[in-house]
Amino acid sequence: MATPKLMKESLYRLQERVEQARAQTDSLFALLRSDAIYERPIPERHRLIFYLGHLEAFDWNLLGRDTFGLASVHPGFDKLFAFGIDPVDGQLPSDRPADWPTVKEIQAYNTKLRETIDAALRAPSSKLAAEVSGTSLDTLLNVAVEHRLMHAETLAYLLQQLAIDKKDKKIDKKVAPENSASAVTGAASSRNDFQRMAAISEGEATLGMRREGGEFGWDNEFEENKVRVPAFHIGAYPVRNGEFLEFVRAGGYEDESLWSAEAREWITSTGISHPLFWERSGNDARNSDSWEYRGMFAQIPLPLDWPVSVSHAEASAYARWTKRALPSEGQWHRAAYGTPTGRECLYPWGDAGPSAQRGNFDFAHWDPTPVNAHPDGQSAFGVHDLLGNGWEWTSTPFAPLPGFRPFAFYPGYSANFFDGKHFVMKGGSQRTAACMLRRSFRNWFQPHYPYVYAKFRTVEE
Ligand SMILES: [Fe+2]
Repeated sequence: MATPKLMKESLYRLQERVEQARAQTDSLFALLRSDAIYERPIPERHRLIFYLGHLEAFDWNLLGRDTFGLASVHPGFDKLFAFGIDPVDGQLPSDRPADWPTVKEIQAYNTKLRETIDAALRAPSSKLAAEVSGTSLDTLLNVAVEHRLMHAETLAYLLQQLAIDKKDKKIDKKVAPENSASAVTGAASSRNDFQRMAAISEGEATLGMRREGGEFGWDNEFEENKVRVPAFHIGAYPVRNGEFLEFVRAGGYEDESLWSAEAREWITSTGISHPLFWERSGNDARNSDSWEYRGMFAQIPLPLDWPVSVSHAEASAYARWTKRALPSEGQWHRAAYGTPTGRECLYPWGDAGPSAQRGNFDFAHWDPTPVNAHPDGQSAFGVHDLLGNGWEWTSTPFAPLPGFRPFAFYPGYSANFFDGKHFVMKGGSQRTAACMLRRSFRNWFQPHYPYVYAKFRTVEE
């Protein structure tokens, strides 16, 4: 049982984390040049302007309205900015820039909400109000922080699709780190090393976590479940642009036998014939076989030693081409956290928390690094680059773990996606905050959404 003093410090620490998360998302909007905020870089998503209001409206609806029972400063905005969109059936939004409020109006709303929420959090009654609402203030603040940090990552996906001349990293020197695109190099490894399959012995993998443990997790991270995983082999490194280029050159996108019927329909109807971040270069770009990579702030020759970022459908087609498969969620856990002796670690490298030499995560870089740039992050089985540098696709459809209970204050957070049309992703990307690198964290996306920083590796059973 924590003493009152400790609990107060923890609340203070959480308020600090709210501040840090706000600085992180503020820094992303600061990268935009003039009118770029009204752009819609991903057709299936809202215009950027929505997110400017959404981050504050979410915190307000959760804390100000539902927990502290405060009067709204702008009910219309609370509703307008309440929810994002994730259309599975190809229905695209059709709103126009003029349909949205001005930046000034939203900024005034945001400032007022932050002041009101912060004042309420400072009031001694705030913890009590949370308990009356049925959820502890710790949980609610963790939800607010992680929701915002998840958006810091998904905003990066959006900004990645925005034309390079519409953003300027020089605008924000303080928070935006230097683009490491060419600065980070991997250790010397031969091609054979990259293609090595690591042997994983049979053992147990722990998915999820115990509710009584008292640690924060989203609803889909509970309950703890142990699964038995038979022996298998897994790529010691994720598939790199270099290997994926061989698949493209071998006609992998045209070979119908490698794609499911839905995936084939998707790539045919959209005209997809290569990874989203690649662009053909040269004089006759249409027929060119030389490639460039569209990074966050620069277009560069395709870095062959970076992991390839592709959708689940493309990853599955590649796996089929190599006569292998994507790992299941249990296999991924076993390769990442298991050990030959049976002990399980909290992170691939052991039990110490995340730090910069273990992987490319926590906003250290805008773009990926070579797959072998962080040998200190490898697992006990010698599997590299598991956390950070791109989420990893699994073959497991996103579904509740046994013992799942939706959050009362946010019932649709996970449950709305238990539809068999989304797949579990593990690991994290270069834009995933350190707090979400915990073992139980599960991400999920639909298989035909290529905008995510998502890599993969293959398994042989
Ligand atoms: Fe959201």
